[in-house]
This record gives sequence, structure tokens and C-alpha cells, in this order.
Amino acid sequence: MTIIGKDIKKAIDFLKKGELVAIPTETVYGLAANALEEKSVKKIFEAKERPFFNPLIIHTNSLEKINEYVEELPEKAVNLIKNFSPGPITFVLKKTKKIPDIVTGGNDTVAIRIPKHDLTLSLLSELDFPLAAPSANPFGFISPTKAIHVFEQLNKKVSYILDGGDCEVGLESTIIYFGEKTPKILRFGGIEVEKIEAIIGKVNILEKIEKNIIAPGQLKSHYAPKHKFIITDIDKFLLETDINKNNIGILSFNKKYDSIPISNQIILSKESNLHEAGSKLFDSLRELDKLNVEIIVSEIFPNIGIGKAINDRLKRASSS
Ligand code: TXA
Ligand code: MG
Repeated sequence: MTIIGKDIKKAIDFLKKGELVAIPTETVYGLAANALEEKSVKKIFEAKERPFFNPLIIHTNSLEKINEYVEELPEKAVNLIKNFSPGPITFVLKKTKKIPDIVTGGNDTVAIRIPKHDLTLSLLSELDFPLAAPSANPFGFISPTKAIHVFEQLNKKVSYILDGGDCEVGLESTIIYFGEKTPKILRFGGIEVEKIEAIIGKVNILEKIEKNIIAPGQLKSHYAPKHKFIITDIDKFLLETDINKNNIGILSFNKKYDSIPISNQIILSKESNLHEAGSKLFDSLRELDKLNVEIIVSEIFPNIGIGKAINDRLKRASSS
């Protein structure tokens, strides 16, 4: 049975018993277990039907605790932690032996972050172990940004859903890798690359899957809606398509399309605010997916700041 509630004590009890608890974060809900116990972590992979080679992010609440789980903390990582943690940024660093192989997919690095959410920070401060937590959705589906999303997709597979309201950022964390001379962004996310570079200088961007860095966030079919989903210039698409306008769903940044029924359109930010658009993106994809239409069409977002993370998620959603 799955219980939804706001009771940190209950969440702690389940976690201590080795069970799964969904936790709210500022990015998306996570499906959490004691990261130091192989048996508990295994349950995450089973519940999500996630391949074991796909490593997990661990969550904790302080720089001191991060130090227990990584061999070394480069100065640039410390600077970023001081500026952006708690917040939507994950650090991939050389792990200590405390972190079991199941968490890291056998890699010698671990991904670690301090989430920015009051309930989850209080929870973490009362635990003497970190929480391994991927997004709380079945593998390949859209990440959850509300407790109800978790309930709809993982009911019975998770003991407790800690309800912390809607996720403020709504997009997963930015992942930055410290295994090379120049830090490398493995996934665009809630902290803009521009802001990172303002603190630590130039970073590299992972362009494609490289042999020795496992970054399965880069797997093609991710965040997949059930409907056919394309990203394109919407005006041009509407001019050229033969599809009946009642059978088209629209995901728009800031503009209304007059030839499409209003009930088939979601406008993410009338004020053209990329943060607002990001926070509504996943919930809007879920809502559009419920429409009785033939195709969902999204525009390409401005490729700056959070727009990079939005475009990345849209591309993955459209690839299936
Ligand atoms: O915002 C987030 O990061 C959310 C919340 C719950 O914290 N979590 C999340 O987890 O997005 P998940 O499992 O959906 O994505 C984790 C990503 C994967 O793309 C994985 O490849 C990468 O982190 N990752 C984890 N450990 C890694 C490692 N050692 N080296 C490289 N990439 C790693
Ligand atoms: Mg995920």
C-alpha cells in the first residue's frame, strides 16, 4: 500500500526499515532509499524497472556529509557548492568505499547533491545515511513534479510519498563531472551553465555518450509521452499539415495559436520567463498527453539559460 502524507517521522521509519519513500525536491520527486544498503537500493531499480548500469544520484544535506562520500573535493566543486547548494546541481566525484557499487553502476565516481526543499532537508538532517534517489517515475517516462504524479505511476511500489507540494524548478538538476581537467556538464538542468561559468570559468559540455562516462540521462527515449510528439516551428507546421486542427495539441512558450482550439493548447509562460516555463514543463506534457489528439507539437525554446534544459528534455521526449 502507498500512503501520501507530510510526516517526516513516518518517512524516516520506512527508510530505516529499508523501504522506498518518494521525496519532494525543488527539481522533481525522487524515489529514495538508504544509499548505503545494497538491498534497499535494489528496490529502486525494481520499482522503476531501471537497468542496473544506470547510476543513481545520492542526496544529503551538508558539505561535511558530502566529504564522507567523496575521495576529494576540487576547489571548483567547493565554490559551486558554496554558491548553489542546496540547489539543483549534482556533482560527479570520485567515491569513497562507503558507497556501494549498486549506486554507481560499478563506476568509481558518485553523483551527489544537496536538494533545496525544507521537508527533505529536515528529513536528511535526521538520517545518518544519504538517500539514493532517481526521479520517481517508471524508467523512460516523464519525471514527477507533484505527489499525485508519483502516486499515479508507482502506486503500491513505494511505501510512503512525502508530499512537499509542487516542485519549484520542475526540471532535474544540472550534472557536472569533475573527473577531467576541465569540469564537464553531463546534463543541462536547473542551474544555468552561464551561472556556473561565472563562478568557475569555462566548462565543457558532453556532446554524445562517451565510452568511459556513463550518463544514461543521455539515453534517447526519455520523458516519453504516449502521443506522437514533435518539436518544430509551429506556424510553419500549421500551414503545411493536413491534420485536422482539432486533432493537434500545442505546447507553446508564450503565444496562442488562433487556428487551434484553446483547450488543446498549453502556454508555459505568457511573460516569456524560462524559469516559469521550466517549472510547468513536465506537468504540461502529462496534461497534453491526456488529450484526444493525433499529435502534440512543441516549439523550440530560446537556447539560453534554462532554455537549454527545456530543449534537452523536449528532444528526448520527441525521440520515441
Ligand atoms: O534533480 C535530480 O537530479 C533528480 C532529483 C530526484 O534529485 N534526480 C534525477 O535522477 O534526475 P535520475 O536518476 O533520473 O538521473 C540521474 C542521472 C542519470 O542521467 C545518471 O546517468 C547520472 O545522473 N549519474 C548518476 N551517477 C553518475 C555517475 N557516477 N557518473 C555519471 N553520471 C551519473
Ligand atoms: Mg530520471
